[in-house]
Amino acid sequence: MSRALIVYYSRTGHTARLAETLAAELRRCGHEVVIEAIRVKRNWNKWLLPLPLLPLLPFLPLYLISARFRCVWHRFYFQPEQAIRPLAFADVSAFDLVLLGTPKWLYLSFPVARWLKEVRGLQGRRVAPFATFCGPPLEVFELEMLFDPLESRLRARGAAMVDRLAVSSDYHPYFFFGEMEWLFRFVSRSVFKRPLAEFTLDGTVGQAEARRFCDAVCRALQGSGPVA
Ligand SMILES: Cc1cc2nc3c(=O)[nH]c(=O)nc-3n(C[C@H](O)[C@H](O)[C@H](O)COP(=O)(O)O)c2cc1C
Repeated sequence: MSRALIVYYSRTGHTARLAETLAAELRRCGHEVVIEAIRVKRNWNKWLLPLPLLPLLPFLPLYLISARFRCVWHRFYFQPEQAIRPLAFADVSAFDLVLLGTPKWLYLSFPVARWLKEVRGLQGRRVAPFATFCGPPLEVFELEMLFDPLESRLRARGAAMVDRLAVSSDYHPYFFFGEMEWLFRFVSRSVFKRPLAEFTLDGTVGQAEARRFCDAVCRALQGSGPVA
């Protein structure tokens, strides 16, 4: 029987729910699944969290229009980190596959950025990243902005990517009256002609994506899946 580790960080519960859903699905396929939630040493106040991201915001327009700029930016931008508590699985080499979950905090969530530095045993490991964010799966602003830096860090540690999953949580903590949620709901209707709810774990697109991802992970665990 293959062994998978699902390791994730979740501040407000959405990535945790996705992790539990994936675990249930992989167990249903007959695999052994162990879950580890990354815990931070100190929970930062919600209003302090975005502060390290503010200096990055003026570059956003250039980032969105220029693929060449994004390529360079992903290598050199300042990725904030947050101290995490000692891990139950600080060495992941005993697992056949690692599923790594993070919320999108413009780029990587700060605790996951730290996990990527501290964890051992990624060399030669198959990894399948998964994420939640508020918006619909916008090619550049959501998917590329999160997965490019995440996957290049994983590859630099010697890991091989199996597949990736992104699901909308339709939840954003800022600012006062759900302004960001309304903005992303508007963007979803404008760009995808679909309500944002469809891209969540309770929506048809989100569920289909989760199934497709689990199938790819199951195939990889059975040793027949392609490794990019
Ligand atoms: C600092 C910060 C930055 C965020 N940046 C984005 C973003 O760029 N795009 C987006 O769609 N959602 C963004 N979000 C919303 C979260 O990604 C979303 O609420 C996520 O599902 C939360 O996951 P969790 O409940 O597991 O913590 C951000 C949230 C925080 C706290």
